[in-house]
Amino acid sequence: MGFIVGIDGPAGSGKGTVTKKVANELGLINIDTGITYRCVALEVLNQNVSLEDTDKIIEIARNIKIDIDNTPNGDIVYLNGKDVTKDIRSKEVTKIVSPVSSIKEVRYSMVDMQRKLAEGKDIIMEGRDICTYVFPNADVKIYLDASIEERAKRRYKENQEKNIDMTYEEVYENIKKRDENDKAKEIGALKIASDSIVVDTTSLSIDEVVEKIINIIKQNLK
Ligand code: DC
Repeated sequence: MGFIVGIDGPAGSGKGTVTKKVANELGLINIDTGITYRCVALEVLNQNVSLEDTDKIIEIARNIKIDIDNTPNGDIVYLNGKDVTKDIRSKEVTKIVSPVSSIKEVRYSMVDMQRKLAEGKDIIMEGRDICTYVFPNADVKIYLDASIEERAKRRYKENQEKNIDMTYEEVYENIKKRDENDKAKEIGALKIASDSIVVDTTSLSIDEVVEKIINIIKQNLK
């Protein structure tokens, strides 16, 4: 088994951007676990499945095929062989991904997949429950946080750059709702592991957070 750096935190805490940069600098493989739940949510929409139909959603999660190609320009995501890199970030997927990821059996399937993706590699894995549930024995555990206003501001700007059409108010409400939902999950709830190092990124630049995390990793791997 390789070594594992786990990064947890709420939507907009900077996990995605920061994790990719740290991975590039330290030569680690980066795994964004939100992708796996977003793919299930997208397939639920593609197949027109109601959110009430949990059995069907569980079946989708059990049979889904997800491939993630780590490239210097970001992850290319394939769902059952089709490139869905942009589709998984749509407003519609973002709205239903938290309830979809709250289904216990969906989590079992995705966590299984995430553990397999990590097998034998040196990785940095980001999500909500990496340090508490997916890899409770990770070598380095970090929790990134920031105020909700700052996180909504960041996500709104990111969406604009990606031509995703959501107002600031929509982004703020979505993040607030996802925080509540993510924290209330029966399994894999968003919470700080007792041995995680908390980094508040509210007033830090991306490069400052990257530097901080690289230092934490280096100190903990000695
Ligand atoms: O990080 P993200 O916004 O792409 O994640 C999308 C959703 O997936 C988020 O609302 C919560 C869920 N998620 C989860 O439950 N557990 C993870 N390890 C990662 C994401």
